[in-house]
Amino acid sequence: MESVGVGLLGLGTVGTAVARRLIDEWELLGERAGATPVLRAVAVRDLSRPREVDLKNARLVADPGAVVADPAIGIIVEAIGGTDPATALIESSLRAGKTVVTANKAVMAESGPRLTAIAAEHSARLYFEASVGAGLPVIGLLRGSLLGDRIATLDCVINGTTNVILTQMRTAGVSFEVALADAQRRGFAEADPSLDVDGWDAVHKLVILAWLGLGSRVAPAAVDRVGIRHVAGADVAALAQLGYRVRLVAHAERAPGGAAVHLRVRPTAVATGHLLHDVEDADNAVVISSDLAGRVMLRGLGAGGASTASAVVSDIVTAVRERKAPADRAVSAPVEARLLTEEDVEVAGYVRIRLSPEADARALVLQALEDRGIPVDAAVDAPGSELIVLTGTAPRAVHDRALETLDTLTHVDEILGALDRAEA
Ligand SMILES: NC(=O)c1ccc[n+]([C@@H]2O[C@H](COP(=O)([O-])OP(=O)(O)OC[C@H]3O[C@@H](n4cnc5c(N)ncnc54)[C@H](OP(=O)(O)O)[C@@H]3O)[C@@H](O)[C@H]2O)c1
Repeated sequence: MESVGVGLLGLGTVGTAVARRLIDEWELLGERAGATPVLRAVAVRDLSRPREVDLKNARLVADPGAVVADPAIGIIVEAIGGTDPATALIESSLRAGKTVVTANKAVMAESGPRLTAIAAEHSARLYFEASVGAGLPVIGLLRGSLLGDRIATLDCVINGTTNVILTQMRTAGVSFEVALADAQRRGFAEADPSLDVDGWDAVHKLVILAWLGLGSRVAPAAVDRVGIRHVAGADVAALAQLGYRVRLVAHAERAPGGAAVHLRVRPTAVATGHLLHDVEDADNAVVISSDLAGRVMLRGLGAGGASTASAVVSDIVTAVRERKAPADRAVSAPVEARLLTEEDVEVAGYVRIRLSPEADARALVLQALEDRGIPVDAAVDAPGSELIVLTGTAPRAVHDRALETLDTLTHVDEILGALDRAEA
């Protein structure tokens, strides 16, 4: 059977699982692809480090550029991570007319449309299924299906680390700091967890989904982003009593009939019955709402070597299958997005307030919210003179202004917590 040379950049969590599958299952993959993908070279940073996989005939090198330049290699798999040197390596591979498979969300969020255009110019191909949701085939779904639909919204839990932490905060009744330390001990969070807990990882993935699903180019820095560091255990517990679970929800929407879009990543109280309510621990889920198909949901393990290798190896098989066809699957260029303003984005909320001791404080606070344009969906008294208010749908700007001015009222001691809220 014909063979196609594969070069792997990076032999960490993802690279190791990819190499193992290519080596162990070469026969099956060859049958499926119509030619055998053969691992010929692997680039790492530190050649002296012991490796968990026997690379057989593939050579291990310290120069990823040499792998890209090797004429016996037609498919470059980028599993290094970060933007530098990964972006330049992907770009030079595409300019050389090679196929690239990457798991890199940071690169695809920052430079995906530009790299796709370079691929099209050089009759090269770029596959990136693993960049969002690991083994969940969400990129394939958006690139190859729903092509006659208009997608209105995407709602996702696409960061396993934060979902593990928030799940632990609820089930064990612990603080963010304790749950983070536990997630680090169990290997679900990095030593430096900021990319995950500050929401950047979810932002990168959401930007890629909005590009493919809404056809809109949004810079990661332009996404409305709030991480989970300031989510209080008391809010998670109070919401659980009311049937809500806090998740870091990544949401994208297109204004009805309009060109403007809105992307946000924020901790959100998700109601019982909502499709994201039961997505626990390291699971990821993507809910796509469109005009013809209605709601479509993908759910499963969204990280880890094996799940990510599932997507990477599937892309390699597809690349081998498609190697002789014209490079016609280029994604259409996204339009630079006009963003909805905070006056236009409608949200519902949750707020926990400590009332001052006056007898009429509760009624005055609820009236003050209504006066500021915030409907009150429900108000629940909690121990310690606390009042929990489920605020109804209103523009983000109206919510923000109401909370700022509420804080200054004499019958409000303190605003203890505030979150977005999503109903089923
Ligand atoms: N881990 C997951 O669950 C997951 C899920 C989805 C997507 N991804 C994405 O997959 C990519 C890889 O993630 P990972 O978790 O496998 O990372 P990782 O475990 O940190 O592995 C990175 C690998 O890249 C190598 N490397 C780093 N800089 C290099 C350089 N300049 N030249 C050559 N090799 C270099 C490292 O070499 P040494 O081994 O010598 O240090 C290591 O083998 C990232 O883009 C990540 O976002 C990961």
